[in-house]
Amino acid sequence: MISTYVFDAYGTLFDVSAAARRAAEEPGRGALKDVWPSLAEHWRIKQLQYAWLRTITGDYTPFWQVTKDALDWALERQGFDDPELRERLLALYWELAAFRDVPMMLAQLKAAGKTCAILSNGSADMLEGAVESAGIGGYLDAVLSVEDVGIFKPASQVYDMVGARLGCAKDEVLFVSSNGWDVAGAAGYGFRTAWVNRGGDPVDRLPHTPHHVLDDLSTLPELT
Ligand code: LAC
Repeated sequence: MISTYVFDAYGTLFDVSAAARRAAEEPGRGALKDVWPSLAEHWRIKQLQYAWLRTITGDYTPFWQVTKDALDWALERQGFDDPELRERLLALYWELAAFRDVPMMLAQLKAAGKTCAILSNGSADMLEGAVESAGIGGYLDAVLSVEDVGIFKPASQVYDMVGARLGCAKDEVLFVSSNGWDVAGAAGYGFRTAWVNRGGDPVDRLPHTPHHVLDDLSTLPELT
């Protein structure tokens, strides 16, 4: 019986491509029109790679620094040298939209008496900004940031935070992420897992596979 639903943040609850997409819609940003998807993709890939590499080498720094470093790389790759655009993209990252299916799904879980929490590589202040701008704080019992353990997912010390903070057993937890690597890590750790495969991607070739695969989050409350 699942008592506790733990969500990854970026890509799962919050649309990480929304910063570049919204910037591209603003007046005077014609240069972004065709390239924002590629910019967003490289920003995200580098952000993840830098987090993992810093974990391997023991060079932890908060996710906000990793996010800025990744954006700098992605902007340079795309040929942008535009400090104002950089600042705008970073500001938009603090107010990412939640996916449309998120508020209703959380409301249903709370109505069913479930515990709901975020467990994210994000810095605590970044997460606070995103939760607030998405208006979902009222549904969340906890927002857990890796900042408290100084290492990034999928290190097991991060998943340990769930039991330590929420007082639940591993088999009571459904861990929900759109990131295949995160779901694999959580499944290996011993959580039940749901992979939100919004993009129709293949399952990651990693030692552990998700228990559930969903197209979006609307059907999550049916998994008990
Ligand atoms: C998170 C990112 C990495 O942990 O998706 O929220």
